[in-house]
Order: sequence, then structure tokens, then C-alpha cells
Amino acid sequence: MDTVVSGIRSTGNLHLGNFFGAIKNFITMQHDHRCFFFIADYHSLTTHPTPENLHHSVRQALVEYLACGLDPEISTIYIQSDLPETAELYLLLNMNAYVGELERVTSFKEKIRKHPDNINAGLLTYPVLMAADILIHKATKVPVGKDQEQHLEMTRTFGNRFNRLYNTQYFQEPVAFNFGRKLVKVPGLDGAGKMGKSEAEGNAIFLKDEAAVIRKKVMRAVTDSGPTMPNSEKPEAIDNLFQLLSLVSSEDTIKHFEDAYNNCTIRYGDLKKQLAEDLIQFVKPITERINEMNADENYIRKVVKQGREKAKESALKTIEEVRQIIGIRRF
Ligand code: TRP
Repeated sequence: MDTVVSGIRSTGNLHLGNFFGAIKNFITMQHDHRCFFFIADYHSLTTHPTPENLHHSVRQALVEYLACGLDPEISTIYIQSDLPETAELYLLLNMNAYVGELERVTSFKEKIRKHPDNINAGLLTYPVLMAADILIHKATKVPVGKDQEQHLEMTRTFGNRFNRLYNTQYFQEPVAFNFGRKLVKVPGLDGAGKMGKSEAEGNAIFLKDEAAVIRKKVMRAVTDSGPTMPNSEKPEAIDNLFQLLSLVSSEDTIKHFEDAYNNCTIRYGDLKKQLAEDLIQFVKPITERINEMNADENYIRKVVKQGREKAKESALKTIEEVRQIIGIRRF
């Protein structure tokens, strides 16, 4: 069975774009892979969150992923900082990561441009920490988007360099887990582009949104004055609404509105009302799970402990072996 590792950045609430774009695939993967999913709290320290914000966002990310269906009985779900073995491997890998190659990483150059006042060493060595996350479990598959491909390439570089330096075959090359056609791009509600939390307020449907909020957002979605010719092509804003419909509505509903669009009798108000109700039904069980867990500190504690113990077992084995290879041996 292939080992999968993926780090979850704890930045704000999850929306439907995250759900259909990534989380749904995580959930499917759990059944035929040895999966490790962790909340990347060390990584988020590069931007200096306050202790309260850090703790709150870690907890929130954990709860939301669990509510979506990451199953702690099947996968290993843990908090990155619960595994100091990762920090140790990071230190060891840093010894053969070169400053020059780290400075050339695209995400680092971007950070410099955006935050010239906070160019810390943690940012520079971000790819080394990510390599440690992956190599600590000797993962071979990493489900990440395009923006992480370069980091993954560096993980392979560091693993291979370690192998060469110590004349071993210890680390295997991890590859990006590509979902190909299954990767769904979810459009937003503001008429253009995909759903994203940084866009205008109202563009994204969050998993924690109450019914009234969803109704309001959908009713405000961008539309136009409607088709004037039968079977005409849909402009982007309208096509986006149909795409959302295709994710959460029944075949019958979709066909009903497709037909109405094609024979120019469509009333966008009706479409939006139906879309809002179907979105509400879709999000409801997730919201309920989020609320349940938020009221059950014991459950969260139990999950975190269980994850820590399982992750620890895997990480300890690797770090012991790496120490042996490097020559850090007990007297
Ligand atoms: N860098 C990843 C991101 O920004 C998060 C991450 C950290 C990660 N460590 C990882 C992803 C290890 C996959 C494997 O999304």
C-alpha cells in the first residue's frame, strides 16, 4: 500500500472550492492508501500569528476536515508540532540544503516581494520542512496542487542527496498525486473565476455557513438578462451557476434548468432559489458535525491523541534509522 502524506494549512474557513477541489479526494484516498494528514502549524509560524490565533485556527482546521469525512479510525490525522521528529529531520536535512537553491524557489521570491519586512529563515527553509513532513513517513505519494510541485521537486532533491551522501537507498522519490480529470474547479458566485476566500465577500460558500447566509449569497450571485436565442452558449456567470448546480443538485433539477435555458423560459430567480436549497442540504450535515465537535472538547482531544500516537510510531522508526545512517549512534 502506498503511503500518502498531505499537510493542511490552517488558513481560515473551508469553502466548497476546497471541498470539491481537494478534500473529497483525500476522503476517497483513505480507503486504499496508508494516509497521513496533518495540520501544518509549524509552517504557519512564518507569518507570526498570535498564540490565540494560532491555536484557534489549528483547532478549526482540524474540526472542519474531520466534519468533511477525514476518518481518524482509517487515516492518521495529527498536528505537525505534535511530532518533534519532523523538526529533527528538518534540522538534519538543512545540513545539505543549499542557500542558493532555496533562494531560487518561486514561492520564496514571491514572499520577498509581498512581505519585504519579514524575510525570515523559516520562509527560506519552508521547502526543507515540507520535505521533512513527507520523508518522516517515507511517503511516495503527495496530493498537492500545481503550486506545490516545485516544493515536491525539492523533496526529491533532498532525499536523493541524502541517499548519495550516505551511499544508501533509504528515501524513495515521492510523486505528486494527480487527480487528473477528477480535479474539480468550483466557480465562485461573483460571475468570474473560481471560488476563493480572498475574493469579494459573498463569492464563496463556506462549510460553516448557515442556511440564511447561503440563501443571501446565492440570491446576490451575478446573472444577466437571460438568453434571447434558443440553445445559445452560456456566458461565464450563468455557466458558473450551472456548474454549482451540477455539484449539488439532482439530475432532474439540472435537466429542468438546462431545458429552460435552452428554450429561453428560464427565470434566474427560480434557479437561484433551487441552487440555494440544494447547497443548504449539501452543507447541512457538515455544519452539524462542525457544531457537534465544537461542543465536544473530549472528542477532539481523543482524536488528536490517537493521531499523535500513530504518527509517532511511524516517525520514530524513520528518525532512528536516519540517525544510524548519519552516524548519530548511542554510546
Ligand atoms: N506547503 C503546503 C501548502 O501550502 C502545505 C504542506 C506542508 C504540505 N507540508 C506538506 C503539503 C507536506 C503536502 C505535504 O499547501
